[in-house]
Amino acid sequence: MTIESHPTASVEKNTDLFDTPFLSEHYDLLLADYFKTKLLDVPVYWQLLKKCTQPNPILLDIGTGTGRIISGLIAEAKREKLDISNWTFLGVDISQHMLERAKTVTSIPPKSPTVQWIKGSAQELEKLPPLCNGAQKVGFILFSAGAFSHLYEKGQPEQFFSQVAKVIEPRTGMACISIAKSFMVTETGKEFALPQIDGPKQIESKIFPGVIYENRILSNETDGNILTEKRIIDVMRKDDGQEKVIERNHVSSMFRLWSREGFTKMATHFGFEITDLMEGTEETYFTLQLKQ
Ligand SMILES: C[S@@+](CC[C@H](N)C(=O)[O-])C[C@H]1O[C@@H](n2cnc3c(N)ncnc32)[C@H](O)[C@@H]1O
Repeated sequence: MTIESHPTASVEKNTDLFDTPFLSEHYDLLLADYFKTKLLDVPVYWQLLKKCTQPNPILLDIGTGTGRIISGLIAEAKREKLDISNWTFLGVDISQHMLERAKTVTSIPPKSPTVQWIKGSAQELEKLPPLCNGAQKVGFILFSAGAFSHLYEKGQPEQFFSQVAKVIEPRTGMACISIAKSFMVTETGKEFALPQIDGPKQIESKIFPGVIYENRILSNETDGNILTEKRIIDVMRKDDGQEKVIERNHVSSMFRLWSREGFTKMATHFGFEITDLMEGTEETYFTLQLKQ
């Protein structure tokens, strides 16, 4: 196998799981089956969203990625023939590449809500243009697929909770935060790792002709409450029967591990009450409301 230069991307780099046009597609392809057959989280958020008492609610999907949950919620409304055209869905992510893909893959049929894709951070929600200066409050917030654990640095989860408290509708607004069971501390001696994905080692791109992704996990290490996973994601092109690597991504992902008690204590500290706790097969879903 040879490594050649690529006009749009550096050949070899340190990155996260989401930060090139190739990686954003790879994310969707790698996890497609896992989302469809194992995680099954869209109905959880849909049932909660329907309980929202805000007239014409605003939904804030933090770490929206390629818009999977927003697409799923729009599909649920269509299936139930519910007219949600006066609702607003805000898909927020720090990765521009994930947002670009969200824009292209999300189908928005008639009677859909207004959808806005916004580059922004979970730690700076009050700076998002639609929410600036408390202009509007949010009826429903979600942070799906265990993405909350990406906030692994000291002070980040605290910043997140204080931001949610600023933008959520007091008392009636709901925030649902999922934590992957693989990131939950439940017993001593547990070995942590990203959720087991039985995806193929090689995946063909659907949008880049001749491109194949290859994904290799190198290590999973836990230090205190931080899990570090290292992997290589190669982007290869088949040429004259030969595979050439056109982008080699050294991916280092860090995740914070949580106990149920630790999460509850922090949420409570910022004035939240856990109003619902749901155990899915892959995740625990914490629903929070601001007490006053
Ligand atoms: C595991 S993916 C989840 C994507 C999507 N919510 C889903 O369920 O398929 C995590 C996403 O969170 C984003 N992300 C990570 N840290 C973030 C932060 N501090 N603020 C906003 N988005 C963040 C990543 O860029 C990535 O798109």
